[in-house]
Formats: sequence, structure tokens, C-alpha cells
Amino acid sequence: MALCKRRGLIFPSSEIYGGFANTWDYGPYGVLLKNNVKQAWWTDMVQKRSDIIGLDSAILMNPKVWEASGHLTEFTDPLVDCKKCKKRFKGDALTGTACPECGGDLTAAKQFNLMFKTNVGPVEDSDNVAYLRPETAQGIFVNFKNVVDSTRVKLPFGIAQIGKAFRNEITPGNFTFRTLEFEQFELEYFVNPKDADKQYQAWTKARLKWYEDLGIDKKKLRLTEHPKSALAHYAQAVSDVEYEFPFGWSELEGIANRSDYDLKQHAKFSGEDMVVGEEKITPYIIEPSGGVDRATLAFLVDAYTEEEVKGETRTVLALHPKLAPIKAAILPLVKKEPVVEIAKKLYEELRKEFFVEYDDGGTVGKRYRRQDEIGTPYCFTIDFETVDDKAVTVRDRDSMAQERIPISSVAEFLRKKLTT
Ligand code: GAP
Repeated sequence: MALCKRRGLIFPSSEIYGGFANTWDYGPYGVLLKNNVKQAWWTDMVQKRSDIIGLDSAILMNPKVWEASGHLTEFTDPLVDCKKCKKRFKGDALTGTACPECGGDLTAAKQFNLMFKTNVGPVEDSDNVAYLRPETAQGIFVNFKNVVDSTRVKLPFGIAQIGKAFRNEITPGNFTFRTLEFEQFELEYFVNPKDADKQYQAWTKARLKWYEDLGIDKKKLRLTEHPKSALAHYAQAVSDVEYEFPFGWSELEGIANRSDYDLKQHAKFSGEDMVVGEEKITPYIIEPSGGVDRATLAFLVDAYTEEEVKGETRTVLALHPKLAPIKAAILPLVKKEPVVEIAKKLYEELRKEFFVEYDDGGTVGKRYRRQDEIGTPYCFTIDFETVDDKAVTVRDRDSMAQERIPISSVAEFLRKKLTT
């Protein structure tokens, strides 16, 4: 958290006013990292697959959506207060009957709906209530018919969406792990009911692999299947991809077999049919649903490394090059011509295609450390030799190994590293 604040990755929200509990802002490097996480997901889900298309639906929707989905009645947590210390708990997270903080008496559990309520228009009355969506999924379900009618999709196919969701959580916390406002990446994959179990199994494995391929330590990832008794109101089966955070194993993403519950509910409440093909099948939905902020936190935590180098501590964010906020730094070894001119030219050339930085401040060792801390995978140094041999030294963040490559091949070098 200290590194995130110091290096402009994540700041407490509204900090000059004392902050606002459980809300965070992404700083200049944080926004690049989070965008890269979203881009990696979008590329793998939408761009690289011919069976998945994208969508961007509104946050505010007709309140009937939440009636049909079951959120108005089911999306609740049991809220328990301590009569003595006034602390608030989620009833289902408590083991005993006394306050875990002070031993005081607890109130009976009240069901508390997690959706943020607002009003549309200047007057607050019950006719114009609207909700901030608690998941992006419903925006996909209500557009199911639009997508089927406007594209040539055939089962199985998916609709993917990235967007903000809001939950009035009773016990948020652990930095950006559980917040009031967060982003989700959700895929709703529509399948023939007879293939649902096979598809569910395949998606659980594929989603675990996605995190591994983006560099997360395999030993810190696992899949956990929920017991049937703990399933949400819409689910037939759910598995979580979990990561071992410093505060313990916790959910990164849930993969659910939602059956035909959602489409049937929306068909019933809207009067529109939600079927496909000549056989008029109501598809089952397999839903890999992840949190962008949670994934970003896991990538950050997993990448954070402190190591001893020549008696000093080196702090490195060993992020996958695809996720690193800055892809390369261009470092002139001297502030003299023609070295500066060559370095600036390389920088101007590369920044057309990549997020890169130019840094000529301080010793080269200090400049490497600055880039290591924000996870920049490559540094290119330019010196007097470059003038003659038209080559630069590339220094690898993780191994700190250096090699000389032609200056004309630098862009291609980066392109290759960013696509594998
Ligand atoms: N459409 C299904 C759905 O929303 P969920 O398990 O409630 O399922 C999916 O949420 C993912 O969204 C979670 O795995 C988590 O990554 C993220 N998420 C949920 N609540 C969150 C919160 N309060 N703060 C940050 N991320 C959250």
C-alpha cells in the first residue's frame, strides 16, 4: 500500500478531506495497470475468440430488471450490530452469539439489501426509484434478444462486458479487495442445456489458466467448488478462482452455472421470448465473473518483490510485460550530444506505439531502481558507443542481465515481448 501511494498507483479517495471509507483512486501508473488488466481480458475473451462478442450497457436500468433478477428480495446480507461497541457485522460471518470485538450483546440479524438506491428526477418518491447495478451481468441478459436479432451468433456463444458495479457492503476492506464501487469483467456464455456441465468445467480451468498465463504464481492460485447449500439464488454450481492474498485465500473470480434462471425470469417479467434456434431453446448460462480491481490487486501483490542486491534492498514489481504500466524506459548515460539527441529520437519513436518514459535524472543505478519499483520490464541505455555501433543496451528488470541490440530493432523487440 505504501508503494502504491508513493509511486502513484493507488491513492485513498478524497484524501484531502480525510478520505472516504473503502473507496480508492487509481493514480497515473495505476490507471495504466488497470487498463492493461482490462485490455488483457478483452483481448483474450473478445478479440481472440470468434464465439464471443462485446457489450457496454448502462449502469442505470429499469427497476423491473432487479425485480426479475431476484436482487430486490434476495441480494441481502444479514446485518448484526453490537449493542455495546456499536461495531457492525455480517451475521453469516459470525461464529458465536457475542460480539467478536468486545464480547457485548448483539442485535438480531436484519436483512439489508446491498443495492445503492437513488431517484431519477428532482423529486424523491417511490415512483422514480432506480438502483446502481450491483453486477454487470443483468445488462447482458436484458440485451440477449437484441444481440441474437442483430448478429449471427449461434449456440454456444458469449457476451462479454467490463463495467462498474456498486454494492453497499457491510464489511468492506482489505485495500481494494472489497469496495463499494468496483469494476467487473463478466462473460455470459450461452450454451445448450445438455452441454452446460461440460462448458462449466472447461471455463473453470480456462479462467484459472488465464491468471497463471499472466504471471501469477501457480502455488498461490486454486479452484474451490462451493457446497450446494451455499449457492446464490440463481446458481446450480459455482467454483471460485482463489488467490492467497496476505490476508488469506480469497475469491478472485467466480465461475457459475446459472442454468436458464435469468433468461426465464426476464421472459416472464418482460413478456419477451428469450429462446434461440428452430428448437426454441432457452440456453443455460455459464458465467465467469471477475473483479478488475481484485485481479489488479492480486497482480500487484504477486509481483511485489524485495531482494538483496549488493547489500541494498531492491524493490521490484515483477509484473508480466503485458500488464506493466510502462513498457520501457529510455536512459541516456550522459547529458551530452549526440547521445541526448539519439535517446530523444528513440523515445519519440517508441511513444507512438508504447507507454515509455525518458529519464535522465540521477545515476543510472537510481534510474533502474525507479523503473523496477513501477514494474518497467526493459530499460534501454544510450551512450557514446551508440553513436558508432548504432546499438543500445537493454537491461532486463527481473534478471538485471544486459545485452546489446541494434537501435533499429528496439520497437520489434518490445512488440515481441508484449505479444507472447
Ligand atoms: N454476476 C455474478 C456476480 O456478480 P459475484 O461473485 O458477486 O458474482 C463477481 O461477483 C466478482 O466481482 C467477484 O469475484 C469479485 O472479483 C468482484 N467483486 C464482487 N464484489 C466486490 C466488491 N465489493 N469489491 C470488489 N470486487 C468485488
